[in-house]
Amino acid sequence: MNPKHIILDTDPGIDDALAILLALASPEVVLDGISAVHGNASAEQVTTNALSILELANASHIPVYQGCDLPLVKESLLSPETHGNSGLGYANLSAPATKPQIKHGSDYLIEQIMSHPGEITLVAIGPLTNVAIAIRKEPRIVQNVKEVFVMGGAIKHQGNTTPLAEYNTFVDPHSAHIVFHSGMPIILTPLDVTYECIFLKEDLNRLLKIDSPITKFISDSTRFYMEFHDEYQKIDGCVINDPMTLALTYMPEICDYQDLYVDVDISTGVGLGNTFADFYNYEKKKPNMKVAMGVRPRMFMELFLERMEKLAKTIS
Ligand code: BDR
Ligand code: CA
Repeated sequence: MNPKHIILDTDPGIDDALAILLALASPEVVLDGISAVHGNASAEQVTTNALSILELANASHIPVYQGCDLPLVKESLLSPETHGNSGLGYANLSAPATKPQIKHGSDYLIEQIMSHPGEITLVAIGPLTNVAIAIRKEPRIVQNVKEVFVMGGAIKHQGNTTPLAEYNTFVDPHSAHIVFHSGMPIILTPLDVTYECIFLKEDLNRLLKIDSPITKFISDSTRFYMEFHDEYQKIDGCVINDPMTLALTYMPEICDYQDLYVDVDISTGVGLGNTFADFYNYEKKKPNMKVAMGVRPRMFMELFLERMEKLAKTIS
């Protein structure tokens, strides 16, 4: 089968960085480009991070486009406590030699999707601002994108940013609302499945048997992420949401899915950013997405570890 052409819309971010590495380590996909979006750090910082990660993996030929630095309506909410001030935990990558492209991230999404109708798989693993802006600027991308994998939401699971809301949907609920109701073919990876997949210290130790800048980066970044999970959520290890979303683009059998009508709360109360599904079809609305609601955790983790080992062996 021909590899899928992928664009990552991302806010690296520790687990975003792991998703970039997994894309580079997966022959099933071709990473055409990256659009960066505010979220775990500012748009400028996450753009720099994306460039540094590509450089670390000898993949500087992949273009990076800086996108939106603010949510549509709310104030921005960065996450230094989760991902560190730079967004990459204790990792200290050198400043990238390559520069971002001139075009805005949302314009890049439009240009790529419209010039390759039915061929682009969009993987959105940050707040959905770039994607929402792109839809408003060029609504025809909705019919022309092949599929959109979104990391976001907490359907039956508790939130990780408020008691009810997951980070990406809480940071920009209005953009999530636009994307969810756009008619795009969405496959959602909510916390319901990502919180079943913990990257353990044993997993890290397995990777550290290979001496490589890749394994050093994974160690330096996830050490911070593990400390966060321990302190805030009493989880031993860390939840790597974003690479799991990427893995589903070519190994869908990691999860079980339900076709559901999902909405996001954009009122201003305690539920802001909460995502909820109409399981009993009270509203008589057609499903607007496929939602991953069951998962085989070790199937994903084995894939992730194998791919990281392979990548690490090629980079010394
Ligand atoms: C999501 O929020 C971010 O902190 C992570 O990178 C992930 O995309 C998980 O809620
Ligand atoms: Ca992210």
